[in-house]
Amino acid sequence: MCGIVGYVGSQVSSRAQDVVMEGLARLEYRGYDSAGIALVADGAIESRKRSGKLANLISDIGQHPLAASSTAIGHTRWATHGGPTDANAHPHLGGPDGKLALIHNGIIENFHALRTELLEAGVEFASETDTEVVAHLLARAYDGDLTTAMRAVVARLEGAFTLLAVHVDQPGVVVGARRNSPLVVGLGEGENFLGSDVAAFIGYTREAMELEQDQIVTITPDRVEVIGFDGESAKGKTFHVDWDAAAAEKGGHEWFMEKEIHEQPQAVADTLLGRTDETGALVLDELRISEEQLRNVDRITFVACGTAAYAGMVAKYAIERWTRIPVEVALAHEFRYCDPIADERTLVVSISQSGETMDTLMAVKHAHDLGALTVSICNTHGATIPRESDAVLYTHAGPEIAVASTKGFLAQITACYLLGLYLAQLRGESYADDARVVLTELHETPDRIAEVLDRLDRVREIAHFMADTRSVLFLGRHVGYPIALEGALKLKELAYIHAEGFAAGELKHGPIALIEPGQPVFIVVPGPDTPHGLHGKVVSNIQEIRARGARTIVIAQDGDTAVEPFADEVIRVPRTSPMLQPLLTAVPLQVFAMELANAKGLDVDQPRNLAKSVTVE
Ligand code: M6R
Repeated sequence: MCGIVGYVGSQVSSRAQDVVMEGLARLEYRGYDSAGIALVADGAIESRKRSGKLANLISDIGQHPLAASSTAIGHTRWATHGGPTDANAHPHLGGPDGKLALIHNGIIENFHALRTELLEAGVEFASETDTEVVAHLLARAYDGDLTTAMRAVVARLEGAFTLLAVHVDQPGVVVGARRNSPLVVGLGEGENFLGSDVAAFIGYTREAMELEQDQIVTITPDRVEVIGFDGESAKGKTFHVDWDAAAAEKGGHEWFMEKEIHEQPQAVADTLLGRTDETGALVLDELRISEEQLRNVDRITFVACGTAAYAGMVAKYAIERWTRIPVEVALAHEFRYCDPIADERTLVVSISQSGETMDTLMAVKHAHDLGALTVSICNTHGATIPRESDAVLYTHAGPEIAVASTKGFLAQITACYLLGLYLAQLRGESYADDARVVLTELHETPDRIAEVLDRLDRVREIAHFMADTRSVLFLGRHVGYPIALEGALKLKELAYIHAEGFAAGELKHGPIALIEPGQPVFIVVPGPDTPHGLHGKVVSNIQEIRARGARTIVIAQDGDTAVEPFADEVIRVPRTSPMLQPLLTAVPLQVFAMELANAKGLDVDQPRNLAKSVTVE
């Protein structure tokens, strides 16, 4: 939520503005309620901000160009305190003479008390935001050194924040601070950058530096200095970004989401890459938890939100079967509040594409406090959640820009499976053979996903016919159940259509009352060889709803003819073993939601009210 960019270079030119505006374009997926920029130019702050998408700010700057500068900060907002208006847009100026500009990502929880104090001191506010409170505190604390002032102010703040500030009296300096919100440094030559994530500056440098919690960073054109909130000097950890600017472009696709859907075979293949040795055994070196500790694990809890939680639900079926360890899936925002049972034999696995989801981060910290082992499955190098965890298993899906998660989801399932198979390998449980077959088949899965992608013309047509639909139901069983939930979530968030996912067996316990003539229902059918006769049971469920007038759109494996008499539409996916079906059946549902949103003329990449990284609780 909220994207932040900072730049400082040695030349006074248009580069500062260009870098920040390009960074904002790349970070807009983090929030698109407003955008703004501030530059230090000619002994003053020049600030421009507009509500709505970045395009409004670009058009404003086109009409009234900004001055040349060497130092700039920019912000794209997901509104929390105060509506999405021009006045509430960042940057906010501090002090009566507006000599300081500040941008912020996060929430200042004690802002009411601080605002009251400032009002009593005669400070006038121009917005309703918590951020402006910090801008005024910083201006009042400033005594010639912005870093010192930042240190004094962060000591008074409660909550989560990334802050970037510039001051007229210190051109060529940007100061940042972070607590529980993301901030990375981009290392250039004769210039340096700050960003919510590396996408902010990927067009200029691929050398970056992570910051720890509670640190302040000061950048000048040729210097990056890090200190803790306690004033102690610190050293950031540098890393090389293994993707380039092209990976953050649409690459000829209409939407990032479309591009990311097509990148799924690669995302799964890259996540599998290098994780087996020459004998085919899994080697997860990066796990950094001893084999003995892993052998002792007697409970696994996934913590995650949204799509990532559905990846955990899929993994529960697989990991319990392969390891015989009880697995539960907790929505991260509920985890802390249900007095969770966890100790040193509990493995708490967080799943997060961004690695910044505040609910998930707080769940991980709570698990850590309870003494559990924490593993992060994450797609973003250097993000907060992996840093707060005992170990990390990175997914290698590349940057996911569209708000709706697609390749991130498939890569998460893949990484969860790698973890489950690794545990099975370590423990030598009874289903080890089963697990070995799955590992072999996992490596064939990218080609099968590519096959699914080649066959989706009919899904696109169905989506266009259904543009006026008001409600869609999704049914699944076993690993198909979380896929039904994911299909419904995708449709809600992209097409703003009421959609519900159900376990097909639950239908007769209530939801079947929703079925009336013409009600569209997607059914994710398990393969005919799924254990316990589940295939036949789902075919019966299809019959039951068809008999009541439902329009049935069935996702079934090649060769599954049993579904045909009861299906209005059959969408085929290649045959694969039961546990791997989610990696195929999710894809038509992603494409359906995207195409339906497209048919309704909606913004597929930036659905209303949402943001890519949810960094508030
Ligand atoms: O970055 P995370 O994986 O932690 O994000 C979790 C959810 O916010 C995310 O999956 C969300 O549900 C997506 N918009 C779904 O498409």
